[in-house]
Amino acid sequence: MEISVIWFVGLCSVLIGNGVEVEASHHIYRNLHSLQSKQLYRTSYHFQPPKNWMNDILIHVFAGPMYYKGVYHLFYQYNPYAAVFGYIAHSVSADLVNWVHLDPAMYPNEAYDILGCWSGSVTIFPGNKPVILYTGIDAKNHEVQNLAVAKNLSDPLLREWVKWPQSPIMTPINGIDPNNYRDPTTAWQGPDGKWRVVIGSHRKHRGMAILYQSKDFVHWTQYQHPLHSSGKTGMWECPDFFPVSLNSTNGVDNSMNNPSVKHVLKASFNSHDYYIVGTYMPNKDKYIPDSDFMDNDLDLRYDYGKFYASKTSFDSKKNRRILWGWINESHSVTDDNNKGWSGLQSIPRSVWLARSGMQLVQWPIKEIETLRVNQADVEVSFEFQKLEDAEFIDPSWVDPQLLCSKRRASIRGTLGPFGLLVLASKDLKEQTAIFFRIFNNHNRYVVLMCSDQSRSSQCQEVDKTTYGAFLDVDPRHEKISLRSLVF
Ligand SMILES: *[C@@H]1O[C@H](CO)[C@@H](O)[C@H](O)[C@H]1NC(C)=O
Ligand SMILES: *[C@@H]1O[C@H](CO)[C@@H](O)[C@H](O)[C@H]1NC(C)=O
Ligand SMILES: *[C@@H]1O[C@H](CO)[C@@H](O)[C@H](O)[C@H]1NC(C)=O
Repeated sequence: MEISVIWFVGLCSVLIGNGVEVEASHHIYRNLHSLQSKQLYRTSYHFQPPKNWMNDILIHVFAGPMYYKGVYHLFYQYNPYAAVFGYIAHSVSADLVNWVHLDPAMYPNEAYDILGCWSGSVTIFPGNKPVILYTGIDAKNHEVQNLAVAKNLSDPLLREWVKWPQSPIMTPINGIDPNNYRDPTTAWQGPDGKWRVVIGSHRKHRGMAILYQSKDFVHWTQYQHPLHSSGKTGMWECPDFFPVSLNSTNGVDNSMNNPSVKHVLKASFNSHDYYIVGTYMPNKDKYIPDSDFMDNDLDLRYDYGKFYASKTSFDSKKNRRILWGWINESHSVTDDNNKGWSGLQSIPRSVWLARSGMQLVQWPIKEIETLRVNQADVEVSFEFQKLEDAEFIDPSWVDPQLLCSKRRASIRGTLGPFGLLVLASKDLKEQTAIFFRIFNNHNRYVVLMCSDQSRSSQCQEVDKTTYGAFLDVDPRHEKISLRSLVF
């Protein structure tokens, strides 16, 4: 096995190989890290709500990032699971890395959202006019869809939002469960000029994306058929529906549709974000997926770790589609209260369709590299001369997460574990192993990637799950490369 490593400044890590141990160290800029007691677990990479803002906050789904007059906007939610405090917070940035937190864009203060302003999406109207569609919880505890418009289009920070007085503009009629009817997507315009939007719901445990149409964005008609549904899943949260280019890694606007795009439908259920790829025929408003949500190990996921309720948006400045997901830190309520925050956002990633046309590819947005001056960003690649030693895979090993937890980093195999130990203490009692194993599967090789959190913290209460996925790489013809953004 040959290993090549590129380090960018940051925290110490040890590289583990199969029988090979490489120790690496470098300078730590203590003044650039916030290591005071309360700030110990605050990340320097991820977007987080302002510190000590209020107790027991939970940052959740976004609308955005939306690009408007030189500024990126992010709208997100605080405390979506408590009845009263759901409001829509707002932060702005020029570079998607450094954020300024503004006053919340919306509070629950109208009959149609008095019990909470929940998730939604921004749509940019022709003429560069942003509007927000969001779910409100009304006084009867029903989920309804409301509209808000930016008050002053000359203000690049879009500080003030005005709720549309005729809200709600969509309500749970026609047998829709009023407690499971939420998270409108960014709307798109069909060739007939009418707007479409989908909303997450279910009917008798059949998850679905309910489809609506409107001429004016205010009066909406529900279609007889959902855009798509699946009897294998429960309720769909935070659906996302967007085109991806077949011939470029660039992103495209939500309303783009021609033979050079396919459409991705994402739904959040069972704690994960799953997606399918298919063809959308706007004239019939029919979506024909290439495969369906099966709720099994073969379903495509955005991420195989902690990642939920994600959303993409088209970045018109750099012609790319950016994905953000919510990461539940899984600390106890007491720990969250002590820290003063709970939850963070994933590193923003560009997403595009793989050349195969069958799955998405993601990569941290370029701007994240500006953090290499004070954060660890490690690139390692592994190359193999001899793969014959790989042990045979058992046909019953279909669940990669289970396989990763049965074969943790401490268990030696023939080809693996190899990878990185990150955030390790000197005595290695505390460490997080990101590692691979290669198995032989009758003339094919199967690469398993794992993230072992079982020794990530000496604190008992935090999540110690070992996560994992099978990778679509062939180690006979390509290197296995790993990029780790640490903390
Ligand atoms: C709108 O925003 C611009 C730019 O920030 C500001 O100069 C102007 O006073 C604002 N108008 C109103 C009515 O608030
Ligand atoms: C794909 O390429 C063709 C020309 O080769 C171009 O006209 C089209 O706009 C491209 N589609 C997308 C979605 O970029
Ligand atoms: C966060 O994760 C923990 C454990 O991983 C789980 O018990 C909890 O329900 C999650 N919270 C939410 C709001 O999903």
